[in-house]
Amino acid sequence: MNLHWLILFFVLVTTCAQGALPATPLFFRGLWCVAKWSSTTQSYTQTGQAFFYNNGTFTMNYLDNPSSTWVNHFTAVNNTDGAGGTYQFLTVTTKGPSELVNKTLCYWRRKISNTEVLFGRQSNGTCTSTFENDTSTDALRYTRTPTTCRYIDDENTNLVISGSSFEVGTLLPYDRNLATAVREAVVFYGSSSIVKWTTLATDFPDYTTLNRGFGGSTLLQCYQQFKRIVQPLEPSIFIIYAGENDIAGGTTPVTLQTVFRQFVPLIRRFYHNTPIAYISLKPSPSRVSKMSQMNDANNRIRQDINLLFPGVTFIDIWPDMLLPNGQPNPDLFVADQLHMNSKGYAIWTKAVSAYLESVFAKK
Ligand SMILES: *[C@@H]1O[C@H](CO)[C@@H](O)[C@H](O)[C@H]1NC(C)=O
Ligand SMILES: *[C@@H]1O[C@H](CO)[C@@H](O)[C@H](O)[C@H]1NC(C)=O
Ligand SMILES: *[C@@H]1O[C@H](CO)[C@@H](O)[C@H](O)[C@H]1NC(C)=O
Ligand SMILES: *[C@@H]1O[C@H](CO)[C@@H](O)[C@H](O)[C@H]1NC(C)=O
Ligand SMILES: *[C@@H]1O[C@H](CO)[C@@H](O)[C@H](O)[C@H]1NC(C)=O
Repeated sequence: MNLHWLILFFVLVTTCAQGALPATPLFFRGLWCVAKWSSTTQSYTQTGQAFFYNNGTFTMNYLDNPSSTWVNHFTAVNNTDGAGGTYQFLTVTTKGPSELVNKTLCYWRRKISNTEVLFGRQSNGTCTSTFENDTSTDALRYTRTPTTCRYIDDENTNLVISGSSFEVGTLLPYDRNLATAVREAVVFYGSSSIVKWTTLATDFPDYTTLNRGFGGSTLLQCYQQFKRIVQPLEPSIFIIYAGENDIAGGTTPVTLQTVFRQFVPLIRRFYHNTPIAYISLKPSPSRVSKMSQMNDANNRIRQDINLLFPGVTFIDIWPDMLLPNGQPNPDLFVADQLHMNSKGYAIWTKAVSAYLESVFAKK
């Protein structure tokens, strides 16, 4: 077959295959703990996790065999009561236990008042209006409520993504508001310099912004948590600041570069053309001993962006934060000499505004 026809064939097949999938209802997107609720003990026993991608695909991992990831696709979705309380999903399992693979089955899922979801399967596999387990009090649930669920990366099951110090204070609350978080925003993602950027709304009045920082995080952790807390949000633009904590913790610039080289392709899997900006590492007075490594890391990442990653922009705030003698400018920082004050953020705002204007002008 002629190569062009072959390519056209694949484009058609891919387009049709995706077109055939109903989108995932917003409410379900992202990561859920799958747990058995006991009304007697008023507690959950986790059985696994579910991750709902935006495109009508979801994965299941069970604790008894975490290394097995089931992949399921919706073939039909019914919001049966219109008000968004009860859904029927006709799904086909493409990866999982052999007795389920390639079988189309009907599952119902019903939201309950605490925003959890009960689910069950129609016993004969077809969608009917009878929800057989609807009244069960001790049903299996999708929940984002417990603080103790163990989560793994569904596609890299050796990687545990829960249990860090960020879990309860930051990551779980992000999971819990996935359904209501604003879509198509300029999403700011990264470490404490992002978290502490509390003036995004007034600094960027022309744009809808969303802060998804988690303080103290490394670029590696941002990469590991990306699918969970950012991917479901359908951002219009990504602004990333992370990497300083990696270098401060002893990571070499080369290793940081390796993480960056994994991170961008991960974003690109889901967002082929969405603009991404990486804010350069800042020179912090309290980390002056690491300045040459930070500078090296900046140069490596800038070079990667220029050579490897179209649609990614390096926003260089480094020179503007130095004194004429090349040392970090302490006036831009609060007392800890690590986090910035409003003078520091003003420099970032100017640089990011110029970037946003350039992106929107290009459209
Ligand atoms: C849906 O998205 C996931 C994650 O990108 C991907 O692995 C899967 O192939 C997609 N499914 C389809 C049918 O496009
Ligand atoms: C949705 O509703 C229609 C009409 O009531 C029904 O035929 C169908 O089986 C339901 N379920 C799905 C998943 O489409
Ligand atoms: C499931 O269906 C796909 C596509 O038709 C096929 O390639 C695969 O071999 C089937 N798997 C099983 C276990 O039947
Ligand atoms: C639904 O109810 C049947 C009959 O009581 C039970 O066998 C089944 O395990 C229940 N399914 C779920 C998902 O709770
Ligand atoms: C499945 O069960 C429902 C009642 O629960 C019934 O209305 C429907 O006809 C059954 N479908 C098949 C294919 O047996």
